[in-house]
Amino acid sequence: MPGQPLKSIQIEGFTSIRSATVELRQLNILVGANGAGKSNFVQALALLGRIVDGELGLFVGLNGGASALLTDGDGTSRIRLELDADPNSYEAVLVPAANDELIFETEVVYYHEPKYDRPYSKSLGHGHRETRLATETGGPRGGIAKYVFALLEGCKVFHFHDTSADAPVKRTVSTADNLTLRPDAGNLAAYLYRLQTSDAAADQAAYRRIVGAIQLVAPFFRDFVLQPENNDRIRLRWQQQGSDAVFSANQMSDGTLRFVCLATLLLQPELPALVVLDEPELGLHPFAIVQLANLLRQAASRSQVLIATQSVTLMNQFEVDDLIVVERRAGGSTFSRPDAAELEAWLAEYSLGELWEKNLLGGRPAREDFDQA
Ligand SMILES: Nc1ncnc2c1ncn2[C@@H]1O[C@H](COP(=O)(O)OP(=O)(O)OP(=O)(O)O)[C@@H](O)[C@H]1O
Ligand SMILES: [Mg+2]
Repeated sequence: MPGQPLKSIQIEGFTSIRSATVELRQLNILVGANGAGKSNFVQALALLGRIVDGELGLFVGLNGGASALLTDGDGTSRIRLELDADPNSYEAVLVPAANDELIFETEVVYYHEPKYDRPYSKSLGHGHRETRLATETGGPRGGIAKYVFALLEGCKVFHFHDTSADAPVKRTVSTADNLTLRPDAGNLAAYLYRLQTSDAAADQAAYRRIVGAIQLVAPFFRDFVLQPENNDRIRLRWQQQGSDAVFSANQMSDGTLRFVCLATLLLQPELPALVVLDEPELGLHPFAIVQLANLLRQAASRSQVLIATQSVTLMNQFEVDDLIVVERRAGGSTFSRPDAAELEAWLAEYSLGELWEKNLLGGRPAREDFDQA
């Protein structure tokens, strides 16, 4: 569902991100050294997602409290997040409160009317613990909050790294939990079952595309075996080519299982407005990484996509305009887009990954000059 195009995100005072404005395009590939701040940026997007779910308190608690999230644990500072779309924006300023919590110092929604210089703004209040977007949507000025609510809800961070024995994707789940794919793929079996048994042609086509994409990477894979068991619960099971044996998710290799999650996410009929993934290449063979890049590019033609990666193979599949280079300067993360015109001569001869390895794009580990702080 194409919603409002996201134009940029501004982050201040959040972990290593002292102050950054990052323009968002259809496809956004964050690259940078270990500890540069890629995952911190992804976490800021996850925070926006938890805010709209009314789970700011839970997010802060699970991530080590306000002091772990404020830059340098500074109890006198604040976190400012602004998500700009066309025509709406959202701004939240979060300040530390008792018990290492974060509360809203301000929360504001905006509407940009092209004929006016300044956007119309509406404050949702001060000092509250959870967002007022949901309560505001029913009010007299609910219109803007409603659109902003949808905007934030559309930003979804997914993480499929966990393939341990009790990983969410391996558990049984209610068949009713099938509306959207959960961020941890905990309802993958129920979601695939809905696509497989749906009357809608688009759902069936998506299911076939998902199975086809998996077979490209794992030619031994035949199909899923999706049958509800007791009390309408379902778990992920599958079959190999040339055998009738039915395997559990535990019998799928870690890389294959992650690719199954990625293919389902990126080929689903209705994508979230912004799909966010941190190091989706984890554990994938170079051939599977090339297939993943194809899926990411296809998804970016339907929605906006943002990933962080360390993979030269993955980077090689993209254009210089897709890259955002993350670097540490004086203890803070910086985000910049390489200048395609400046690199034109190099790009004629080398791939993006090769330029990266030659250190022509920046984003390499470097000593930091704290005198400039
Ligand atoms: N509250 C904080 N204040 C300042 N800096 C912080 C704070 N929390 C974390 N950091 C910095 O952020 C770094 C981690 O950044 P992040 O996890 O985003 O790296 P990354 O680019 O994802 O690296 P990798 O490629 O290894 O995953 C830490 O090394 C630390 O320097
Ligand atoms: Mg990281």
